Amino acid sequence: LSGEFDNLVDAARADMSARPGLSLCEAWRDLDLAAIRRDLIKRLGQAGIDEAEIDTRYLMRHALRPDDLTAALAGEVLVSWQQVSELADLASARLQRQPLSQVLGTQPFWTLDLRVTPDVLTPRSDTEALVEAVLARWPENTTRVLDLGTGSGAILLALLSERGEATGVGVDLSRKALEVAQGNASICSLSDRACFVEGRWGNGLEPHAFDIVVSNPPYIVSDVLAGLAPEVRDYEPALALDGGDDGLDAYREIAGQLETLLAPGGLFALEIGYDQAQSVSGLLERAGLQQIECVTDLSGNDRVLLGRMSEL
Ligand SMILES: C[S@@+](CC[C@H](N)C(=O)[O-])C[C@H]1O[C@@H](n2cnc3c(N)ncnc32)[C@H](O)[C@@H]1O
Repeated sequence: LSGEFDNLVDAARADMSARPGLSLCEAWRDLDLAAIRRDLIKRLGQAGIDEAEIDTRYLMRHALRPDDLTAALAGEVLVSWQQVSELADLASARLQRQPLSQVLGTQPFWTLDLRVTPDVLTPRSDTEALVEAVLARWPENTTRVLDLGTGSGAILLALLSERGEATGVGVDLSRKALEVAQGNASICSLSDRACFVEGRWGNGLEPHAFDIVVSNPPYIVSDVLAGLAPEVRDYEPALALDGGDDGLDAYREIAGQLETLLAPGGLFALEIGYDQAQSVSGLLERAGLQQIECVTDLSGNDRVLLGRMSEL
C-alpha cells in the first residue's frame, strides 16, 4: 500500500510541476485577492504589455467568475485556491505574451462572441469596418455570400447574423481554422446557413454563384513579420499574416477570380493594409472590377476596398 501511496504522491508532484502557473501560485500564497491583482498588473506591465490593468481584469473575471469582481476584491466573496491557481495558469500564458483572446479562448466581434484558438487569426475590430460597409451596400435580393480566407468565420457569421435570408460559404486553406469556424457557426446558431470548404481562395467554386464576395486575406509584407509584436509574430498563424514579398500575393490571386465568382452586379469587399489602397485598387481595375471605393476604419486608416462586377 505504501508503494501505491508513494506513486500517487509522485504523480501529484509531477502534475504540479508541469503546471505553468506554479511559480506565480507560490508568489501569491500569502496575498489577498487585491494584492494579487496589484502584483499581476505590475508583472504584465514589466512583460511589456500596455493594457496591463485591462488584461488583469479580464483574466481575473475569467478565472474567478464571481458575478461581482469588485466584491471579491474587497474580500466580500470567497474564491477558492483552485480558482487562484487557474488564474495563475492563465496569467502565466499571458506573461509569455500569448494573446489575451487565445488565453481566454474567445473574442468579441461585431455582436458575436467567437471562439479563438492558435489556429485562427483573432478577429480584429478594424475588420468590423468591412462588415459595416457591406451591410450598408447590401444588394437587393442578395442570398449568397462567399468569404475567402474565413479563419474563425468572423466576417461571414457577422454578415449572416444581420441578414436572416442570406446563406454563405467560408473557404480556407487551413483545415484546423475551418473546424473553429464550423464551431463558431454552431455557437452563433448559424450552422444551417453557413458551410465551410477547404480550398485555395475561389478555386473550384461554382462560377457566378455569389452575390457578395468578401475577404480579409493575409497582407503583411514578409520582411515585416519578424518585427511584429510577440502576440502576433509568435502566436498567430503565419498563413493568416504573410502576404509575400510586397504583401500583395493574395490580392493578385483573388482579383483574378472575382469576375468568375461574382454574379452580375455583385458586390465585393476586401480588407487592406493602411498603405495598400492604391496598389490593390490598381489590381482590381486591371481585373475589370468597377465602382471601386475605399472606406476607412475608426482610426481613419484606409481599410476596405469595395466594388462591383458589371451587370450583364
Ligand atoms: C487575415 S486572416 C483572416 C481571417 C478572418 N477572415 C478574419 O477576418 O478574422 C486570412 C485567412 O486566410 C487564410 N488563407 C491564407 N492563404 C489562403 C489561401 N491560399 N486560400 C484560402 N485561404 C487562405 C488563412 O488561413 C487565414 O485564415
